[in-house]
Amino acid sequence: MFIRSIHLENFRNYGRLDLDVGPSVNIFYGNNAQGKTNLVEGIYVASSITSHRTSKDSDLIKFGENEYKAGLDLTDDDGSDVHLVSGYYSEKSSMSRSGRPGRILIADNAPVDKISDYIGICNIVIFAPEDLNIVKNAPAFRRKFLNTLISKVSPSYFNLLTNYSRLLAQKNALLKSIKPNSKSDLTDQQLDFWDFSLAESSAEIILKRYRFAKLISDTASKHHGSISGGKENLSIEYNTVFGVVGALETFLTKNSKYDDYMGKGLSEGDYGCIKGIISDLVLAKLKSVRNYDIEKHISSIGIHRDDILIKLDDLEMKKFSSQGQQRTAALALKLSELEIIKMFVSSTPILILDDVFSELDKTRRLSLVQAMKGAQIFITCTDKNMIGEEIDAIEGANKTEFYKVDGGIITKEA
Ligand SMILES: Nc1ncnc2c1ncn2[C@@H]1O[C@H](COP(=O)(O)OP(=O)(O)O)[C@@H](O)[C@H]1O
Ligand SMILES: [Mg+2]
Repeated sequence: MFIRSIHLENFRNYGRLDLDVGPSVNIFYGNNAQGKTNLVEGIYVASSITSHRTSKDSDLIKFGENEYKAGLDLTDDDGSDVHLVSGYYSEKSSMSRSGRPGRILIADNAPVDKISDYIGICNIVIFAPEDLNIVKNAPAFRRKFLNTLISKVSPSYFNLLTNYSRLLAQKNALLKSIKPNSKSDLTDQQLDFWDFSLAESSAEIILKRYRFAKLISDTASKHHGSISGGKENLSIEYNTVFGVVGALETFLTKNSKYDDYMGKGLSEGDYGCIKGIISDLVLAKLKSVRNYDIEKHISSIGIHRDDILIKLDDLEMKKFSSQGQQRTAALALKLSELEIIKMFVSSTPILILDDVFSELDKTRRLSLVQAMKGAQIFITCTDKNMIGEEIDAIEGANKTEFYKVDGGIITKEA
């Protein structure tokens, strides 16, 4: 798939932008704080709804305005036209009903009600300085990486997450409402209900996360090996509610179901069986911390605390690796995201490199260029001469287009 034109309305520092782009390599250059990242963020948000650098949709609205829209005109691999608009309005907007903020999602001129019906339409992978957060920062960044990837290849996963969040919010509201020493049979029954529902929902999410963590581990370690010369070994380990991974692995090995699970999928019977084992385990754990959770008014255990441990030669990178090692791992993880999307999705993903290409050395650039073949690419940089000859190795890169970004105005070079 490739973008023909980009349309932004009150997005970050863009009041209005309508820009035609080339099907191959597009390079946006300009000084700092001119709107290069804002532009590629707009492209990403138009396809993926949420931003790669903020979780607050209201940050994306141009200062002083009440709504933004980010739209793309695309051509799919089969030649058909696709038109997407993703937007957001604040409670102050005239679009807001009952004073609440809300989303605008339009695909081919028809409103889309469910986020899961939108996010799989156009896949974009963005490489940005923020990727380093995946390796060195809090678990929330790694959950976001995992959740975004799984949602892209399996949009129904997004509905599982939404359902879990809703259940958790309701249980947390109940936990907050229970006064010390006012625990009763009624509150116990209510908590039983939420715990049961949460355990069921958790089991489905865990079964997806474990599988994708394995896929990421396999593909990322391969990319890491070729970037770093194979001296160190990168691995990813899924870390969830205590005891669950062990039970899942025992089930898969004992019944020789590992290949099915990783490949074509488990049969309905096997899926039901392992889902039951996992949800029972989670339920038991939730019950074991009930008194503590009532006292603290929190949900101390659950998949909302999941993490993926990123290890280099068995040492957790967050704690033990150098900045350089962390950068290489972040790049390997993103290349793995790209590879996994290509494995599952038929149309070619679009790539964005925000401020990363000019920072990389030759080996890393070549790994990236290798992975990018055939895709439409958007690159931002401060100095267009820093991009180098590697970009010429990309098929069709003779059609590279250059654009100057200056205070929210974009001018295409003739
Ligand atoms: N919501 C917003 N409304 C208006 N301007 C914004 C908004 N968010 C960020 N900006 C401005 O955008 C500029 C940064 O743009 P950015 O695209 O990140 O720069 P760069 O070209 O260096 O990538 C800053 O001057 C910032 O004030
Ligand atoms: Mg930038």
